[in-house]
Amino acid sequence: MQPCIMSKKVIALLGSPLLEGNTARLLDEAIRGAEDAGCEVEKIAVAHLDVAPCMEIFYCMENETCRIKDDMIEIYDKFREMDGLILATPVMTMGIPGKLKAFIDRFQVFYMAKYYRGESFISPERRKRRKMLFISIAGMNLPTVFDGAKMTVRAFGEIIDCPYWDEVLRNDMDTIQDIRTRPEVMEAAYRKGYELGRLLVQ
Ligand SMILES: Cc1cc2nc3c(=O)[nH]c(=O)nc-3n(C[C@H](O)[C@H](O)[C@H](O)COP(=O)(O)O)c2cc1C
Repeated sequence: MQPCIMSKKVIALLGSPLLEGNTARLLDEAIRGAEDAGCEVEKIAVAHLDVAPCMEIFYCMENETCRIKDDMIEIYDKFREMDGLILATPVMTMGIPGKLKAFIDRFQVFYMAKYYRGESFISPERRKRRKMLFISIAGMNLPTVFDGAKMTVRAFGEIIDCPYWDEVLRNDMDTIQDIRTRPEVMEAAYRKGYELGRLLVQ
């Protein structure tokens, strides 16, 4: 009998509200790469979800979910099951867009399980294999423009046991305007998506 080969699941998070903007274009390239490597990819446009901010109810101190019943409830299961994450976002006000930050803050559910109760939802063996690819673009041409976003995203990776693995960053978008005029960045997104997929399936 043939062994049942489960395909690896990757979640692709879009932080931009624009479904066909420059961030989305880079994310789509990374998705294509991960799929070509044999992964199953689910894209989630965070700005279009019903997600409230964390209200500090602290229900998650003793419970494996959140008391706020919105789209996050289904998302928690997907994040427990996934093997890899591609997170793509524009820089907004030197950090990440508000809706994406609210989405990330709601992973207090994972934070409490891991750090307060000492029972992470992700086993140490699965943590070793889970990886996050970070894609970000910014309007300004400043050397520090990604620092805020990267700090948040790295912390998120630790909380959900899907550590920061690699990145594709492009600043100066106010000058560039259309990312398709920079094929090397589009190719980098595809290549990193493919590499991520390869590492997950091998
Ligand atoms: C509300 C808002 C805030 C922004 N803040 C910054 C910023 O602080 N630094 C920066 O370099 N670019 C900033 N930008 C520019 C975006 O990062 C840039 O336009 C990016 O290319 C948008 O990507 P998208 O079209 O895929 O959403 C901001 C854009 C918006 C809409």
